[in-house]
Amino acid sequence: MAFDDTFLRACRKEPVEHIPVWYMRQAGRYDPEYREIKKNYSLLEICRQPELAAEVTLMPVRKLGVDAAILYSDIMNPVASIGIDFDIVKDVGPVVHNPIRSKSDVEALRPIDVEGDLGHVLRTIEILDRELTVPLISFAGAPFTLASYLIEGRPSKGYRRTKAMMYGEPEVWFALMEKLGDMVIAYLRAHVASGAKAFQLFDSWVGSLAPADFDRFVRPTIERIFSELADLDVPKIYFPGVSSGELLPSMKGLKADVIGLDWRVSLTEGRKRTGGGFAVQGNLDPYVLTAPMSVIEGRARLILDEGMREPGFVFNLGHGLFPEAELDKLKALTDYVHSYTSKTLSTNRQEPAQKEGSNRR
Ligand code: CP3
Repeated sequence: MAFDDTFLRACRKEPVEHIPVWYMRQAGRYDPEYREIKKNYSLLEICRQPELAAEVTLMPVRKLGVDAAILYSDIMNPVASIGIDFDIVKDVGPVVHNPIRSKSDVEALRPIDVEGDLGHVLRTIEILDRELTVPLISFAGAPFTLASYLIEGRPSKGYRRTKAMMYGEPEVWFALMEKLGDMVIAYLRAHVASGAKAFQLFDSWVGSLAPADFDRFVRPTIERIFSELADLDVPKIYFPGVSSGELLPSMKGLKADVIGLDWRVSLTEGRKRTGGGFAVQGNLDPYVLTAPMSVIEGRARLILDEGMREPGFVFNLGHGLFPEAELDKLKALTDYVHSYTSKTLSTNRQEPAQKEGSNRR
C-alpha cells in the first residue's frame, strides 16, 4: 500500500481529500487484544521489546483505520536515563521513587543518553518506519508536565509542590526546566533521525497555570524546544492539555505547526486565540464516546464543519481515550470522519469552478 501522508499535509495546512484523524491514547485498554498483552507484560516491559511495542503501535492503525500512528511509549520513559527511578502503577499512573525536592536533586540529574539507555525506543521507531503506511507520530512530555510527576512523585490534582518550587525557588525551577528541555530536545531529535514523521509535545497539565505564570515560568522552555528543533522537516504539535483555553494567546510565535485543543474552546475560537497561523487538532470531549452513535456523529459533525472552514485541521479528541471506550464506536467514528469530510471537501472543490462558470454567462 502506498504511503498516505494526509495527516502530514493537514498539519502543514495543505489541501487534503479528507480530514485526517487519530486519537490520543489510541493504543490502550479499550482494546481487548491490548488487555490480553497487558496480562503478561507491563507498559515498560512492552516498551523494552521493540517488536512488541511496534505491534501495539500498529494495532489501532489496523483496527480503526486512523491516519497516523502514535509510538507506544510513555512520557516518563526518557526520565529514567537522566536518573529518575519510577514505575507506572496500575490505575494510578507514574510513581517516582526519588522525587525532586531540592537544588541538589536537580543538580544530580544526568544528561540523557538516548542510544545507550533508550535504544529500544529507537529500534521500535525503525521497525515502524518500515511497516507503517501512515505517518508515525513520536512524542515527549513537556517540561512542566514532566516536572509535575518528578516533583510531586505521583499524579496530583493541585500541583502544590510543583508550584511551591516554581514560585518559591525560581532558580531551582529554571534549572530543572533547562535540564528537562535539553532532555526533550535530544530525545525528539533522535526519534526523527530514526524515522518519526511528526512529533507531539504533551503538556497535559500546564492548563493549571495562570497565563502570566505560563509566560514567565514555562513558555521560554517550550519556545526553546521548538526553536532548537526547527531544522527538523516534520510537523511539530504542541498540546497544552486540558483547560488550556486561557493560555492559547501565548502560543503565538512558537515554532510549532499544530496546536492541540481541548473541548472547552471551539476550533474557531482556538484558531482566533492562537493568532491564525497554526493548524489545529482536536477536540471532541472523550466522554461523548459514551453516548449513542447518532449523538457521537452529531457532535463530531459540529467540530468537522468548523474545522473544515480553513486549511490545517486534524480531528482528534480533546484529551486521551479512557479505558471503557468501545472499539466499534471508535471505528465507526473514524469511518464517519473520513466519509463526511471527503464528501464535503469534494463538494467545496467543485463549487468555485461552478461559480466561475456562472460569472462567464
Ligand atoms: O496510544 C498512545 O497515545 C500512545 C501511548 C501513550 C501512553 N502514554 C501509554 C500509556 C502516550 C502518548 C502517553 C502519554 C502520557 N503519559 C501523558 C500525556 C497524555 C495525557 O493523557 O495527558 C501522560 C500525562 C502520561 C502519564 C501517564 N501514564 C498517566 C497519567 C497514566 C495513566 C494511569 C492509568 O492507569 O490510567 C499512564 C499510564 C499509561 N501510559 C497507560 C498507557 C496505555 C495506561 C496503563 C497501561 O496500559 O499500562
